[in-house]
Amino acid sequence: MTAFRPVSFVLNGKPAAVTAAPIRRLAHALREELGLTGTKIGCDAGDCGACTVLLDGRQVCSCLVPLAQVEGRTVVTVEGLAADGRLNPLQEAFHLYGAAQCGICTPGMLMAATDLLQRNPKPGEQEVLDALGGVLCRCTGYRKIVDAVLHVGDCAGAQVVDPEAGQAVGARAAKTDGVEKVTGREIYGADRAPADALWLRVVRSPHWSARFTIGDPAALQATHPGLVKVLTAADVPGNNGFGIYPDVKDQPVLADGIVRYRGEAVAALVGDYDTVHGIRDDEVPIAWQAGDPVQGFDAPLAAGAPQLHADKPGNILAHGFVARGDAEAALAGADIVVEGDFETGFVEHAYIEPEAGWARRVGDRLEITVTTQTPYMDRDEVAQLIGIAPEQVRIIPTACGGGFGGKLDLSVQPLIAVGAWILGRPVRCVYNRIETMAATTKRHPARMRARYGCTGDGRLSGFDFTGDFNTGAYVSWGLTVKDRVPVHATGPYFVPAMSARSRAIFAHEPPSGAFRGFGVPQAAIAHEALMDMMAERLSMDSLAFRHANAIRKGQPTNTGQLLQSAGLDQCLDRLRPHWTEWRAAAEAFNRASGNGYRRGVGVGCMWYGCGNTSLSNPSTMRMGIAPDGKVTLYSGAQDIGQGTNTTMVQAAADGLGIRMSGISLVWGDTDLTPDSGKSSASRQAYVSGNAAKRAGENLRAEILRRANCSEMARIEIGGSVSVRDGDAVREIDLSLLPELSNGDVLMAEGYFDPPTTPLDRNGQGSPYGTYGFAAQIADVEVDVELGTVKVVRMAAAHDVGRALNPIQVEGQIHGGIAQGLGFALMEEYVPGRTENLHDYLIPTIGDLPPIVTYIVEDPEPTGPWGAKGIGEPSLCATAPAIFGGIHHATGVRVTRAPCTPDRLRAALLALHRSDPDRRPVSD
Ligand code: FES
Ligand code: FES
Repeated sequence: MTAFRPVSFVLNGKPAAVTAAPIRRLAHALREELGLTGTKIGCDAGDCGACTVLLDGRQVCSCLVPLAQVEGRTVVTVEGLAADGRLNPLQEAFHLYGAAQCGICTPGMLMAATDLLQRNPKPGEQEVLDALGGVLCRCTGYRKIVDAVLHVGDCAGAQVVDPEAGQAVGARAAKTDGVEKVTGREIYGADRAPADALWLRVVRSPHWSARFTIGDPAALQATHPGLVKVLTAADVPGNNGFGIYPDVKDQPVLADGIVRYRGEAVAALVGDYDTVHGIRDDEVPIAWQAGDPVQGFDAPLAAGAPQLHADKPGNILAHGFVARGDAEAALAGADIVVEGDFETGFVEHAYIEPEAGWARRVGDRLEITVTTQTPYMDRDEVAQLIGIAPEQVRIIPTACGGGFGGKLDLSVQPLIAVGAWILGRPVRCVYNRIETMAATTKRHPARMRARYGCTGDGRLSGFDFTGDFNTGAYVSWGLTVKDRVPVHATGPYFVPAMSARSRAIFAHEPPSGAFRGFGVPQAAIAHEALMDMMAERLSMDSLAFRHANAIRKGQPTNTGQLLQSAGLDQCLDRLRPHWTEWRAAAEAFNRASGNGYRRGVGVGCMWYGCGNTSLSNPSTMRMGIAPDGKVTLYSGAQDIGQGTNTTMVQAAADGLGIRMSGISLVWGDTDLTPDSGKSSASRQAYVSGNAAKRAGENLRAEILRRANCSEMARIEIGGSVSVRDGDAVREIDLSLLPELSNGDVLMAEGYFDPPTTPLDRNGQGSPYGTYGFAAQIADVEVDVELGTVKVVRMAAAHDVGRALNPIQVEGQIHGGIAQGLGFALMEEYVPGRTENLHDYLIPTIGDLPPIVTYIVEDPEPTGPWGAKGIGEPSLCATAPAIFGGIHHATGVRVTRAPCTPDRLRAALLALHRSDPDRRPVSD
């Protein structure tokens, strides 16, 4: 065994020494040998910057620094920033400005900013962009990070408040878990596990389509004593299939003799870290017989194509359909009809935190500590995989370092569960960047055709849509996408007659799943392009055309639902001044420009049904008071960065009538919290917000009843409960009350299930309790020689019903715009080719323009204080707005996302050839 000399250095101001291989990565040494898990690992390849630390005062990616290189030098990590337990001014600014959402990038951002501020205490914006350019954030859209760095030491502009009792909802309250995120104390999936945990590494298929057999692993174990077990399909004790629908469990934990995509799990090596990561896949005795994969749309649908699933002929998973009126007749009678074909590719979630967690068996129960968006669904899935009751599984969520829908499907959970269950030892697993990208779900590629018709005076009259959505190898969320798209396919407009058909298609590609919008962002590209085309044919301003046709309260949606909240017209009103000014400026620029650049301004609109489509999707919240007066909200609503740990406390506080700072939060743990449903489909503010409000109100009612006080009474909770009703003060002596099973003495629950109905065979019904609306405009600059597009500025107006916390709403809008910008201009996951963060591009801090944000509050009567959702709506309008800007600038109508420079350059050339009067582009 090699003996290593200790490497000595100064760490966070104190001497430190690590005895490990000289080539050990500093990031790993910090996390594993020294226990400083504030330094994160998102890629281990120098691409994401999550591991940024200071080495002799300058920022470095610690995943690229060999341990030997720090001998005698100084290293500062995020743990070294706070002095005497107090946040330093930069951490304070991040906390108050809401610069941390999921928080996984926050340590890296803080260290990069510290490097800058040490050299330049008053940097300008461009200097901030340059200094932080090496750290990726997938949540925030970077704008609040820039604001925080620019305002260090001067946080007055943050306008953060500590709201009085009864005034928490609507307040710009800082995150309840924000301090953990800016100090590096927050614990994510890869940060902690028992010291004796075995490691699990997945062996994955190198083929898109194949049959295989696994031989006896005895020889492998004989040559690798640290290999404890090779798990195969035969080791799964229960049903070797999972999926998000109760009646569809088609994806195996470990493939059983057949694989349907490259990256599918076929075996798992369990043992010590070095052994399982040192064994090459080709050492595992697997005999492969590769088949012919069918990929994309045409090959799977071709006559005689290989079938991925025997019970799904033609590789068609399912059809979706919504129709109102006679769309064909309406289009035949329309004064103007426009049509187009549109296409989008796979998009990767690219959360900075890879999938990670650990599991242990405790008697006849399993405990799984894991990053997830959906603790209760994980619990039920694992139970059926192991063959035990759901109550025998406990999910303990860690902080979630970004999800965006990608952590709704299972990843490490079933593997570590099987390992821990059959071996009786803790088992942990952390996906590396390549496998998180190769093996987990994506946004559905779409191929769509749509026609829109209107009258000569600019009223929409008919619409027809067909769309295929590639769901990859397994069902995942394919059934949801095929249902959600037709409901939303027209866009947020009143259309008297419409028809929309969708199909979910299987292919030998990664499963497509949930990704911020469930098909709506793809469809928005189609309907918004057609809206622009109709406005152009009418010689009508395209924003005014949308305003005239925006669906209003009282008008039926495509499914015949009458909305009680519909604020698109108000959103457009807020944007109109920018629209007018920016369009005029762009046109003036173009008249003056002779340097190969063109400016343009586009508008995009969207709507989004909040919650699961036509399904019961309830949430339950619980509040309790302990004998010492401690008030606790038990919330199962998983915070994935969007801020539910804060907004649920705000809602509960106002329901009860005390300050939010008087409420402790227990979140996520399925043994300790009720089921609040999934953090998906923009449902938590609306659904769980209602449940939290009602939990508070019900606890308040219980206190008032015991105190025999009126509704107007004021509640104060310290060591006891005081109720002040006019001049009278009544006390409830908590010490006299019997303890409940969890130790509290007072308890109440709140429950809400959105009012939805099933859709009939024509897709008519009320699929959602409410809809969010938005309009965004994008001012873009196109380099017509290179085909590159820079988004110069954006304005976004979102109808959220009521902003429970405006900081969180703004953060969601910024983050959604960032992902929408990536979707529009750069992000395309090419299976087998872009499985890392240097080939797969996501927007950096330099790609995000200034964003003007307007929060419109058209209250939803069934929402808590009128609130609706914002998570998914924030993204859906961005690509259409950018594409509208490109058309305004160049005349090119973008029909395929992403609009990469090569595609735009080709379109510009084609346009020039067909119309030489257009601005010349050199061949
Ligand atoms: S983990 Fe080091 S750059 Fe990504
Ligand atoms: S807050 Fe930056 S990645 Fe989540």
